Amino acid sequence: MNRFARIIGTGSYLPPKIVTNDDLSKTIDTSDEWITTRTGIKERRIVTNESTCDLGVIAANNALDMAGIDAAGLDLIILATTTPDKIFPATATMLQKAIGANCPAFDLQSVCAGFIFALTTAEQYIKTGAANKVLVVGSETISRIVDWQDRSSAVLFGDGAGAVVLSGSEKTGILHSKLCSDGNYLSSLQVNNNFINETGFIEMSGNEVFKIAVNRLSDIAQDTLNACQMSSDELDWMIPHQANIRIISAVAKRINMPMDKVVVTLDKHGNTSAASIPLALDIAIRDGRIQKGQTLLFEGIGGGFSWGSILIRA
Ligand code: UT7
Repeated sequence: MNRFARIIGTGSYLPPKIVTNDDLSKTIDTSDEWITTRTGIKERRIVTNESTCDLGVIAANNALDMAGIDAAGLDLIILATTTPDKIFPATATMLQKAIGANCPAFDLQSVCAGFIFALTTAEQYIKTGAANKVLVVGSETISRIVDWQDRSSAVLFGDGAGAVVLSGSEKTGILHSKLCSDGNYLSSLQVNNNFINETGFIEMSGNEVFKIAVNRLSDIAQDTLNACQMSSDELDWMIPHQANIRIISAVAKRINMPMDKVVVTLDKHGNTSAASIPLALDIAIRDGRIQKGQTLLFEGIGGGFSWGSILIRA
């Protein structure tokens, strides 16, 4: 009998401090007009004192509430983050303690593709029967690794967290997932922290990342549809990584997905890295757009490059 990993609860959290494009234009040579036209972003949330764990805990508790299960019932926690609170221990273990769970917990680092990689990893535990209830969190305080003087990257990012609770199901859940990595593009998008005496910041060749993102994401989205013998008109929603509205709409166009079936939150959140997909998912579930039984496509790409997509029936 097939065993699927099904999402039974989602949650999210954004720190309260809002930084608008106009706010940024007071400290760097940019404008609301440039940022809106080139990226679709209008504002982002930025932490003041909150840690990656703090954001993740609230998102996780919201997801557990929706799922109607207690943290003590979890078999595994996977936290996708690029901005762990410490080199060690894993931020996932701090989150485990804070929510009152007693299961294994580990961090997974795949930058903006982190949630896709974490969800796929969790799916394997569920499919094999090694776990039945898994919490997957994407949480980022990416503002800590942004060079706020670099206008080409500073305008893009924001902080936040999203979480899902997965449960084993005999009926429905993740139908297919595909992950890819290509380490040839290391220098296109990286934090060049040598771990000894530097705290690095995001360095990015925006144009290169843009082109590769559009090509890789449309290919992998189409591969995922093909693997399920589906066409995009059978999808109810695409929930993409929220990096740039022009990347999102170019991918949607290539796979023939109308934009009114694409969940877009980047205008309010910016690029929250591993948090962006579960944040967008939670918002669209809570506002009633995404309903039980619908078919969803997740896709995302991040530094490395690493990229992936998941087709799931809610
Ligand atoms: O999760 C993955 C993370 N990264 C991404 O997804 C990034 C993907 N790339 C992008 O989103 C876009 O490449 C950017 C938004 C980063 C840049 O947009 P673009 O349309 O590729 O602009 P560009 O880099 O070609 O720059 C065009 C001009 C340049 O000026 P000149 O040389 O034409 O005079 C830049 O110096 O815009 C200038 N520029 C800015 N101007 C005002 C760059 N950043 C800014 C800014 N405000 N913030």
